[in-house]
Order: sequence, then C-alpha cells, then structure tokens
Amino acid sequence: MAGGGVALIPTAPEQARNRDAHFPYRADSYFQYLTGFTEPEAVLVLVAGKDGSESRSILFCREKNAERETWDGFRHGPDGARERFGFDAAHVIGDFDARLPGLLADQPALWFSIGQDSSWDGRVASALNKVRGESRSGKRAPSVIRDVRAELDAMRLVKDATEIDIMRRVSEISAAAHVRAMRFVAPGRFEYEVEAELLHEFRRHGCEFPAYTPIVAGGANACILHYVGNDQPLRDGDLLLIDAGGELSGYASDITRTFPVNGRFSGPQADIYDLVLDAQAAAIAAVRPGANFADPHDAALKVLAQGMIDMKLLAGSLDAVIESESYKRFYMHRTSHWLGKDVHDAGEYKDGEHWAPLVPGMVLTIEPGCYVRPADDVREAFWNIGVRIEDDAVVTAGGCEIITAGAPKAIADIEALMRDARGG
Ligand code: GLY
Ligand code: MN
Ligand code: MN
Repeated sequence: MAGGGVALIPTAPEQARNRDAHFPYRADSYFQYLTGFTEPEAVLVLVAGKDGSESRSILFCREKNAERETWDGFRHGPDGARERFGFDAAHVIGDFDARLPGLLADQPALWFSIGQDSSWDGRVASALNKVRGESRSGKRAPSVIRDVRAELDAMRLVKDATEIDIMRRVSEISAAAHVRAMRFVAPGRFEYEVEAELLHEFRRHGCEFPAYTPIVAGGANACILHYVGNDQPLRDGDLLLIDAGGELSGYASDITRTFPVNGRFSGPQADIYDLVLDAQAAAIAAVRPGANFADPHDAALKVLAQGMIDMKLLAGSLDAVIESESYKRFYMHRTSHWLGKDVHDAGEYKDGEHWAPLVPGMVLTIEPGCYVRPADDVREAFWNIGVRIEDDAVVTAGGCEIITAGAPKAIADIEALMRDARGG
C-alpha cells in the first residue's frame, strides 16, 4: 500500500443453489490469504499507519448468536476472531456500513477492487459520498482509488515455505487419488464411478473440496478440453484422461494422467503418449530461475510440433508449423498457469513485451497435450486419442521440484501398477 490509505477486502458471498440449499461455501482467496478466516459475511480493513503510527487490521464478522449457531454451526464472533486470529480490532458486520465513512475519512487512498461485486461497489460508493458530503466539516474523502488485488497478486505469486508445505501435501493426496483411479478402472465402469473414487480419496485425507470439477474423460471425450459430463461407460481399448486435484487449507493441486482403460497402451496410443511425455520432460527442464514463464511452453511446443510432423499429423518444417500455428489443431492450449489458492492462480504473466521471470517459490503447472479428432487427412489409428500429462512444479534455486510425482506417468510404470491391481 505504497502512499498509505485504507484497504477493504471482503470475503465471498454465499451462493444459493436452490430453495434453502447453498453451494458449499468457499471464502474469497484474497481474504483467506490475508486472514485465514473462513466464515462468510466478513470484511478485512487494513489501515496503513501514518505519522509514525502503527498499521491496523480490523475484521468485521458475524456476531455470536446462540440460535443461529444451533442451526448453522459455530461462529467466532468479533472477540473470538480477534483473539484467535490476531486482528487489532474486530466488530460485528452489521456495523460495517455505519463505520465505513469514518474509516475512509482523511485517508489519502482507498485500496479496493471495484467491479468485482456490484453490491460492494454500491456500499463503498455510498460511504465515499457520505464523506464527500461532510467536506464543510473539514473531512476529506480519499482522492485515489487503487486496485488492492493487483498489489496482492504480486504477493500471492511467490509462495512462502508454509504455503509450499501445504501444496506438497495436497499434491501428495491428489497423486494418491490418481493412483487409486488407475487401480480401479476397468472396461464397463462408468466415468462417474471413477470420479467418486477421486473425491473419496481427496476427502478422506482432509481436503475440503476438489479444487475444480474433475474431468474424467474416456475415449473421444478426452478431446473435449473441459469435459465434465463424466457420465459415460469406459470402453476396452480406449484411453481415459483424468484431470483432478484436491484443495487443502485453501490450496489447489492440479494433476492430469492419461492411461488405458484395459491397462495396456496400444501402439498408436503409446506413440502419442510418449510424445506428450517427452514434451513435458523438455518443459520441466526449462523451469528454473532465470527462465521466463513462456520458456517451458516453447520447449514443449518444439517437441510436440516435431512429433506431429514425424507422425505425419502435420506437414512442413518445424519452423513453418510453429510460425503458422498449425499445431493448434492438435495442441490448442498453453503449457502452464500459476497454481496456488486458485487453480488458475493470481499473478501477472506478462509485463508489456516481457514474460514473467521465474523465481524460487513460484508454482506452475506443466501440462502439454495432444488431442486428435477424426478427420479425413488423419490416420484412423490416431482418431479420438486425447492425451494430457500435467504436473505441478515449484521453482527452486537449482531448477524445480515436481510435487505431484506420486502419480506414475511412464508407460511401463502405469501398466505395472494396473497389472498389479488386477492381480497380475
Ligand atoms: N484443471 C484445469 C487446468 O488444468 O488448467
Ligand atoms: Mn492446469
Ligand atoms: Mn488440470
């Protein structure tokens, strides 16, 4: 908060699903990042110190209420929250609108994310107008409004040791869920049965939620990038692509594995699979301090494009395929995104012409793929093969640590695991 001022960070609203039922509540990631407080109906106010005074953190939250707690569960209440979480002050949320003009008066800047939620925009605008209306009594409204999230994005991009420990743990749980799915899968089982195995494994190890809706895509469904129907039977001879990760203490894991429903890769499946695995290895080798966000993608792309040429999926030179982007017919997404509290985490990717430099503590996914839809100019043996292999990498001083390595990905390892699960 350079230049001082007051920051407002509300948590997420509860969302009704249908009559008297709500979607599972998930606190806003920024709010949770700063407070660790996960109850709904709360706002954090940060006041930067001025003229030598200390900065202050103030929480507004739900009051203690014996009747509501009987129906809905425990609430910390302002006093409990202050003691437990270490806020400098805490008040009931019902007082927020009345106190806000006083908090804003005579502050040089308001740090707030306008446009995120129109009801919050209205509340803040009306408090600002109240202060403006008192100018004759000498009060001044902040003359600058800045996006508090932009400031927090830069902080969230580089994880500290505690955050990385949690991310290691959620990766371990999520990798175990993929192993469980590999052991469970067989022809005739339904995609949703596999999804249930994943969710079971996340939850039994303490994950609060899946970090996103699992993609359990058998056969041709693997060529639908955001397939979440998960309602089809698995067929002998098809591949199964699973993209799933748990969320633990507010941190996401994001893993994709692709493996054969019957436990054995066919020749064409193995060709595409090993190409994607080679591309992933090239991308992982490019993750190190001094590299930038685009380097892993460029490394994966070179391998994938050359493989597509070698397999006669594409014609032309490597340079021409990359320049014309003809590879996008089979590889249409990028190789990485930031990972943290959000599966597609906060943080800028580019500053003007420059991709973000990688520094220790950043966490990114490495997820190349190849998706072949049926077409007259494509060998039929490759039709409907969709492969993605996705791991999560923490940038370290010497390169990177793959925190999702518990889920096997070499063909021999996958086949051995599946053989073992079937009793040899
Ligand atoms: N699971 C979402 C993604 O891989 O980006
Ligand atoms: Mn991902
Ligand atoms: Mn994913």
